[in-house]
Amino acid sequence: MIPSISSTQFLLLYLILLFVPSPTVAFTWQVCSTSAGNYTANSTYESNLNLLLSSLVSNGSAPGFFTDTVGQIPNQVQGLVLCRGDTNLTTCGSCLSNVTVQILRLCADNKDAVVWV
Ligand SMILES: *[C@@H]1O[C@H](CO)[C@@H](O)[C@H](O)[C@H]1NC(C)=O
Ligand SMILES: *[C@@H]1O[C@H](CO)[C@@H](O)[C@H](O)[C@H]1NC(C)=O
Ligand SMILES: *[C@@H]1O[C@H](CO)[C@@H](O)[C@H](O)[C@H]1NC(C)=O
Ligand SMILES: *[C@@H]1O[C@H](CO)[C@@H](O)[C@H](O)[C@H]1NC(C)=O
Ligand SMILES: *[C@@H]1O[C@H](CO)[C@@H](O)[C@H](O)[C@H]1NC(C)=O
Repeated sequence: MIPSISSTQFLLLYLILLFVPSPTVAFTWQVCSTSAGNYTANSTYESNLNLLLSSLVSNGSAPGFFTDTVGQIPNQVQGLVLCRGDTNLTTCGSCLSNVTVQILRLCADNKDAVVWV
């Protein structure tokens, strides 16, 4: 699923956040990629990215997958979250709000980012 979506030309950002109950801040696994390029500060892309990250935090904390897409090509941003089935809304929501901040630092300006917590 991921490779096929990833190969589409309009795919600009992926976030995969798999939550493992652990207090550690370090990511178990991470990929920052510039294969789709970088975005620039204060761009429409960045604004769409921030909207997407808010949506992932607001709507993605239930166990299972949540995906969302914001904006129009070429500034479209796509995200995917997976909260493991043995977590709950509170814990996964806390993880998501932490990760959405950290991923912007970790993969600064990169259009592709995947982390596994
Ligand atoms: C993207 O930015 C990184 C630094 O954050 C840089 O190393 C890389 O060359 C840039 N890639 C492109 C395609 O602009
Ligand atoms: C982006 O906008 C902020 C706030 O308006 C400004 O301080 C900053 O210099 C801008 N950055 C770029 C690269 O335009
Ligand atoms: C996700 O949450 C945002 C609030 O951040 C809301 O505006 C939006 O409609 C929600 N999207 C989905 C797909 O539930
Ligand atoms: C959610 O899971 C955490 C960690 O296992 C636990 O401490 C907390 O009590 C749970 N919260 C609810 C509402 O079940
Ligand atoms: C999120 O970060 C806060 C502050 O660093 C930390 O106390 C909390 O345990 C983190 N939440 C998760 C689920 O990792």
